[in-house]
Amino acid sequence: MQIEKLTDVVGARITGLDLSQELDSETHAKLHQAWLDHQVLVIPEQDFTQEEQIRFARSWGEFPKRERYEKRAEKDTADKSIMLVSNIRENGKLIGSLPDGEMMFHTDGAYDEHPYNYTMLFALELPSTGGNTLFANMYAAYEALPDELKSKLANCTAHHGYYSGTVQRDQPVGHFNGEFSHPVFIEHNETGRTALFISRLLTLRINELSQEESDEILAFLFDHTEKREFIYEHEWSLGDLVMWDNRCLNHARTDFPREERRLLRRNVIQGVRPERGRVDVAA
Ligand code: SIN
Repeated sequence: MQIEKLTDVVGARITGLDLSQELDSETHAKLHQAWLDHQVLVIPEQDFTQEEQIRFARSWGEFPKRERYEKRAEKDTADKSIMLVSNIRENGKLIGSLPDGEMMFHTDGAYDEHPYNYTMLFALELPSTGGNTLFANMYAAYEALPDELKSKLANCTAHHGYYSGTVQRDQPVGHFNGEFSHPVFIEHNETGRTALFISRLLTLRINELSQEESDEILAFLFDHTEKREFIYEHEWSLGDLVMWDNRCLNHARTDFPREERRLLRRNVIQGVRPERGRVDVAA
């Protein structure tokens, strides 16, 4: 297994693995460490079935309970643990979720008491251009904040909410998926590092501030976390498996031609309720 950094701040490309085969425990442990070190891993040239993907995904933890499963397009097209991220319509009906267009930065499941630890996407069909996925390192975004703002937000919580399938905050679609508040700064429960936990798509307000101040600070934080210096932009190739850690990354998608097919197979792994992160500022 070879590990090659994708940028100075986030992401690594992993080669020398065939994920259709079960990984031995030593390789699994090395991959886990690479994941903690680089936050998002790109594993190209994979060829695995839905069942093989599920086996690989399951080796990283539990799948969430799908209480709203019956409402999802995938109920007729994929296993219960899978979401198909796709714009493909068969007989006028979508076969999957999050079909079209640019998607704002977010982290999967932040509106839930127990957000997802991990997400994995496997590319099966791609448009000729666009539909890239961007990943922003939220440890680095936290660390680069001014001390004054870190101190101000150290004990604050942010409220998140989501209408299923929404890709732009001001154009909600679908059923209401839920809402929950978490610390603005969370502790990654494996690395112990502090990460900023807000996103343009999901974060509605900072609970302890007035509406006006919350709007102002969130606007600043959204712009701050989306600076190029924190980001790796992934241009997909068929057979790429991309796996990322939602506890320390936000992700987004660029636009792509509506009339061209895009199909990715997604698994998520259940996480735990995040604890408040430690804030260190110069005395
Ligand atoms: C997602 O946010 O899970 C979808 C990302 C993508 O379509 O690239």
